[in-house]
Amino acid sequence: MPRPARSSRSDRRSDNRHDPNSPFKRKASKPKGDYRERQPAHEYVLDVLPGLEAIAENELADVPLARDIRGLRFWYPGDMERLNRLKSVVAVYRIKAWDVPRPRGFLGNQQLGELATFVAEVARVGGHTSFRLGAAGKESSVMQRLASELEGLIGLTHNAEEGELLLRFRPEEHGEGWEVLARMTPRPLSARAWRVCNMNGGLNATLAYAVLKLAGQRDEDRIFNPMSGSGTLLIERSLMGPSAAMVGVDIDPAAVECAQRNIKAAKREIEVACVDALNTGLPDRSFDLILADLPWGDAIGTHGGNEVLYPAFLKEMYRLLSRQGRLAVITHEIKLFQGLLEDSTEWYARELFQAFSGGHHPKAYLLSKR
Ligand SMILES: C[S@@+](CC[C@H](N)C(=O)[O-])C[C@H]1O[C@@H](n2cnc3c(N)ncnc32)[C@H](O)[C@@H]1O
Repeated sequence: MPRPARSSRSDRRSDNRHDPNSPFKRKASKPKGDYRERQPAHEYVLDVLPGLEAIAENELADVPLARDIRGLRFWYPGDMERLNRLKSVVAVYRIKAWDVPRPRGFLGNQQLGELATFVAEVARVGGHTSFRLGAAGKESSVMQRLASELEGLIGLTHNAEEGELLLRFRPEEHGEGWEVLARMTPRPLSARAWRVCNMNGGLNATLAYAVLKLAGQRDEDRIFNPMSGSGTLLIERSLMGPSAAMVGVDIDPAAVECAQRNIKAAKREIEVACVDALNTGLPDRSFDLILADLPWGDAIGTHGGNEVLYPAFLKEMYRLLSRQGRLAVITHEIKLFQGLLEDSTEWYARELFQAFSGGHHPKAYLLSKR
């Protein structure tokens, strides 16, 4: 597939600002007919939480038209709407390389014009109204000048803290130039539209998706989410497809209310009750899939409390799970949890992944009855 030519180092004046085909401040025109034949391919890269790369690569493999895939980088001529539906991804960036040895090179007339065209096109597609730079050294005089030049050229406000269009500059991995990554959506994809209520200790939705995907999705599953917090696992599972039943419980009334608000915003119908997960009164073997994001011992719970809670939790979940059922657990209390599994004559456990998120490095496990 032909790739767009890389920008040259020559310093000829760019006429982008006056080009009738320039995307600056133009209105989006609706593509007619089959977009596959009409849209040029661009190169993209997916930003994912470290540890979720394999899951994101699998998800990307299902995107029609994505091609020349190398890890999380790929070329794509299709509609952004499809990429914006990726669930394991923090953000999608359009990426382009320039033959400049250092960021100062972007201040050349031609490079600046090309960069402005690139950014304006992303803003046109993504509907951003402001931008910010996310480079190391973004406070430097070169980057400050770049920001102010771009502001004049593309007509977006430069907002260093909250700009919607995040532009990252970094040296090329295999090459001597620099590349620019432009985030395609004003907010990260991991900040789900349904999340109208945030809770301390709320799970990153891409982590929830990864756990759900690896725990397996079956329409006939009766699903229980003890310790449901703001409802991340319940909502993400419900958005993936049907299940035979789904219920969440949390001991904290504020968490239950928070989950109910998020569920409503997601336009789902999921029962969440204020109940102690260890004393539900439900019959034995009520569920086929139990999903649990246990207290990690910092934002929620304490390490001492978890030493009591975790063994009691495993005992009660063993009672509530069907013979062939699966128990998916995500926790940051790795030593405690693994110690319990090593001593267990009841559970067989498999590690699903370890991810890095917000200074934490939680692990996910899938347990089944021995
Ligand atoms: C790590 S948070 C869950 C966060 C959730 N996954 C989310 O995305 O918001 C753990 C939750 O467990 C709840 N919890 C702790 N002990 C519980 C118990 N015995 N029964 C039910 N919920 C409990 C806490 O109130 C807290 O909401």
